[in-house]
Amino acid sequence: MRGLAKKRAVVTGGARGIGRAAVERLYAEGARVAEMDCDSAGCATLRAELPEVMVVEADVTDAEAVEMAFAQITGALDGLDILLNNAGISAPYPFLELPVASWRRTLAVDIDGVFYCAQSAARRMRHSGSGVIINMGSVSGMLGMPGYADYNAAKAAVIELTRTLALELAPELRDRIQHRYRWGRICWWDRQSVNNASESDMPSLEQSASEPSSAARHGERSEGA
Ligand SMILES: NC(=O)c1ccc[n+]([C@@H]2O[C@H](COP(=O)([O-])OP(=O)(O)OC[C@H]3O[C@@H](n4cnc5c(N)ncnc54)[C@H](O)[C@@H]3O)[C@@H](O)[C@H]2O)c1
Repeated sequence: MRGLAKKRAVVTGGARGIGRAAVERLYAEGARVAEMDCDSAGCATLRAELPEVMVVEADVTDAEAVEMAFAQITGALDGLDILLNNAGISAPYPFLELPVASWRRTLAVDIDGVFYCAQSAARRMRHSGSGVIINMGSVSGMLGMPGYADYNAAKAAVIELTRTLALELAPELRDRIQHRYRWGRICWWDRQSVNNASESDMPSLEQSASEPSSAARHGERSEGA
């Protein structure tokens, strides 16, 4: 992976799973990494095992806490280049038995949290003229999976939120939105890189949308890194 050295990156939900793998990989590539998670024990483990990573305990469903965390992180890293909006939850229920509280919690983490973090990050990135926001979607948000009504709905919203961010924050990149249906939906804008890239470097929206997606399933952590 090229170009990550010295980049300032935030990973949400980085205390375990795919987020933790991303934290390790970004760090190994020479990025300056901060991690935000609400799991105290997971944060403590990460702090002990990777002391070079800045660990901030915060719940992405709390807009104020998110904004404070971004202020703290961007202050310490002196800016922000990459946000991996990864924190997410799912709790399977047959639709007819899905508790309201579970519906609300899943949407709070999987879409409200993505919005809060993306907005806090984008405001700072826009100030400096470039940035990368990666929102973890899921094939569930496109195909749906029985027993995951809340998760499917939230991930579909993540996909549309990401499309909107790409169109709104970087209209000049309208044809250059990068799609990753398996693990996430990627919104990418970096004026310098784009100015230097040729048209053929990136697939068009239509080409990307017609790429075959993998089967609807949950993957292994190592696949994402
Ligand atoms: N595992 C898969 O097969 C798969 C497939 C498609 C998409 N995804 C997406 O990838 C992302 C990571 O999945 P994973 O399997 O590694 O999950 P995981 O459950 O292993 O890890 C999720 C992390 O997010 C943190 N988190 C949860 N709620 C939070 C909150 N409110 N505030 C801050 N942190 C919070 C958890 O503490 C945990 O560290 C999720 O968005 C998930 O929907 C996963």
